[in-house]
Amino acid sequence: MRTEHARPIRLSDYRAPDWLVDTVHLDVALHPSRTRIKARLALRPNPSARGPAPLVLDGDELTPLSVTIDGAALPATEYAAGPDGLTIPQPPAGPFVLEVETEIDPSANTKLMGLYRSSGNYCTQCEAEGFRRITYFPDRPDVMAVYTTRIEAERDEAPVLLGNGNLVARGDVPGTGRHFAVWHDPFPKPCYLFALVGGRLDVRRTTFTTMSGRSVELAVYVEPGKADRAGYALAALERSMRWDEQAFGREYDLDVFNIVAVADFNMGAMENKGLNIFNDKYVLASPETATDADFAHIEAVIAHEYFHNWTGNRITCRDWFQLCLKEGLTVFRDQEFSADMRSRPVKRIADVRVLRGHQFVEDAGPLAHPVRPETYREINNFYTATVYEKGAEVVRMLKILLGPETFRAGMDLYFARHDGRAATIEEFVACFAEAGGTDLSQFMLWYGQAGTPEIAVTRRHDSQGGTLVLDIAQVVPPTPGQPAKSPMQIPLVLGFVGPDGRDVPLTLRGHGPLERGVLVLTKPAERFVFDGITVPVVPSLNRGFSAPVKIKADLGSDDLRFLATHDSDPFNRWQAVQTLASEILIGNVAAIRTGGGVRHDGGLVHALASVLEDERLEPAFVAQVLSIPSEGDIARDIGRDVDPEAIFDARHALRRAIGNDLAPTLRVLYDRLRDDGPYSPDAASAGRRALRNVCLDLLAAPGHAGAVALAAAQYAEADNMTDRMAALGTLSLHDTAERETALADFAERFRDDPLVIDKWFALQAMIPDPSTLARVERLTDHPAFSLGNPNRVRALLGSFAQANHTQFNRADGKGYDFVAGMVLTLDGKNPQVAARLMTAFRSWRALESGRRDKARATLERVAANPSLSRDLADIVERSLG
Ligand code: PHE
Ligand code: ZN
Repeated sequence: MRTEHARPIRLSDYRAPDWLVDTVHLDVALHPSRTRIKARLALRPNPSARGPAPLVLDGDELTPLSVTIDGAALPATEYAAGPDGLTIPQPPAGPFVLEVETEIDPSANTKLMGLYRSSGNYCTQCEAEGFRRITYFPDRPDVMAVYTTRIEAERDEAPVLLGNGNLVARGDVPGTGRHFAVWHDPFPKPCYLFALVGGRLDVRRTTFTTMSGRSVELAVYVEPGKADRAGYALAALERSMRWDEQAFGREYDLDVFNIVAVADFNMGAMENKGLNIFNDKYVLASPETATDADFAHIEAVIAHEYFHNWTGNRITCRDWFQLCLKEGLTVFRDQEFSADMRSRPVKRIADVRVLRGHQFVEDAGPLAHPVRPETYREINNFYTATVYEKGAEVVRMLKILLGPETFRAGMDLYFARHDGRAATIEEFVACFAEAGGTDLSQFMLWYGQAGTPEIAVTRRHDSQGGTLVLDIAQVVPPTPGQPAKSPMQIPLVLGFVGPDGRDVPLTLRGHGPLERGVLVLTKPAERFVFDGITVPVVPSLNRGFSAPVKIKADLGSDDLRFLATHDSDPFNRWQAVQTLASEILIGNVAAIRTGGGVRHDGGLVHALASVLEDERLEPAFVAQVLSIPSEGDIARDIGRDVDPEAIFDARHALRRAIGNDLAPTLRVLYDRLRDDGPYSPDAASAGRRALRNVCLDLLAAPGHAGAVALAAAQYAEADNMTDRMAALGTLSLHDTAERETALADFAERFRDDPLVIDKWFALQAMIPDPSTLARVERLTDHPAFSLGNPNRVRALLGSFAQANHTQFNRADGKGYDFVAGMVLTLDGKNPQVAARLMTAFRSWRALESGRRDKARATLERVAANPSLSRDLADIVERSLG
């Protein structure tokens, strides 16, 4: 480890590469500790570069063995090679072939970047800068080459050998017990999309026929014995491939598409060309081991990685500043896919919950950055909610501004114009400006300005004159490095709900009818006059969450209750209830802090009851309405001087009140929604389970023994993980004997299944009780826990730090110290995962002063450590800002 005060890399410093690589031939001889890689690169000077330039190749912890140019050994005086790179000051003037041999130790690779071993199998992870840990290379996405990979291994150790592209040869190496496979990928790609796998794996296969009638062999490879849990992922892949043909006209391009699930993986999954490598959490599922949420995540991640084949692989990023070009766009695509496969409104609500819970929080703190950052020290730290989730919102806004047909035309133009190339955000947006014949220069601010815009809306209705006036102001708050902001172009989808619940037509003075209800804001403050509004209406603002903004409108609780029962936009029905609840909760937090009592609001319960009793609504939607704002939501809405204990108490009181007031209805629903058929993960069945389990949780919230017993019974009788886990979650909130009995049963029942034990770790880490810190400390010594596995770290430590607001933020600061200590230990093994865990401190400045001081002291102690990784140093220093 070394603390690198590496200078920041800036977008404005971008230069085209001096050297291009046409082809790469890799010969990889797998060995547990001494894997040999022979790389043959066909290089040529970039015609657009500025004349003769040295050849500078990246490396990271490499051992160089030999270097030749056009077949002749290069004298040691003519190059410099070390662990971090290889430089040839005076290479040949024209094209040449460079051959380099390196040796690496996959078993010692605890960073899980480059070539490493997981459960004894060999696999790779190259995004963003892992390929340089395999061989010397111009490791940047604008260098695209055609790869041929020969992989050789002991047949017993690695009977399965997989690479990018199509298999072109395989066979034995006579008399050695070794065998080989040769894979060729005809599509030029950046090296971050390179992958190989070798190991003992079981497989589940099917054949897919593309829209033009080509046949593609699909396969999901998993650890031995787990193939029966790969069926859902395989079927999700088929659905994804069909959907991309239908929704975007995109056809798959190779003869095979392979997915490999591994147990040790830093992120969710990786879109390597033709060989996606997955965290097994996003592949393996059975009714007994995976929840409905797990099934939905698997479907979404399988789709996401598949969709990258066009948005990311065929068209890649010019440089890492453009990361949202592939990630924001691909998240948008996977969200649309899931919306089509499941319920669109429910998916939208779930996505907005994630956006607010992660991205809004990031955007409001010291780690805020634009969707397209302009500088970074460590690119691994920019795989963020802002780049991914806000990046997706920006694409969605383009669609809302342009309408679906023009949006599709813009996408078609993008695919046609940039296929096979590395592109920029400017090039992407230009396709939509051209397709729509419109100027998107103000829209570009969404990529350049960090911070969540705040919109204030006031209305004045003149029923005699039939006009409704909306005064709308926007402010983008300051963020690190961006003290002053310009006004943004914001598409606000709007409706006016009349007394009968029907929408009144929107006629904007000076414009006419508002197409698709889209009101476009462009100025700091604007007045919009709507004519023909003769009846009283309630404005429904930002329908479907058309723009990722915060809205303050002069809607009273009567208006909100009206929208909650009448708005034709389901998202805003849900939003109205959330806003009502949030206002009550914020008031009660303040009351608790000044020693007052909490206010009980019959209006909210009334609104909830009317939604509960509306049988036309889908259960999954009702479940979302019944889920009141989380502790994180409330903290974010309060924004400063946050007291997590008061928030917990206010929220707990409201849940008890709802559970008490609605008990009869909740109980009737709980019984009615009982599903006696066999488990199916489809969205409708999942929705019924979701609602039933929310009912259970609310029934138990007041702590009545009968309801706790109901949860214990559901835990014991469940025939699927969704119901079992929901019951355990409810029990976990009640300090009872039933809780410890069920936890012990769970540990015993699933002792051999690390992915399921992760649920057990996570649940215990989230118990809002002062004893939890000691419990989590004890669990770090549990035989199933390991700092070497990112899923274990995220389950136990990530859940504690990110999802247990009262206990991570203990007033005595011991939660901070514990997490910081674990982060420092982890940093020596896996800096990426350590840095990610440290982002739990990102909201420290918003805390009340006692906790704020303790958090700052902890951050400063970590920062003072002399041997931080670049990943961790970057997060800690930006957090202290
Ligand atoms: N590109 C991956 C995805 O979004 C994420 C990833 C990044 C995985 C870096 C591994 C390493 O699909
Ligand atoms: Zn992605």
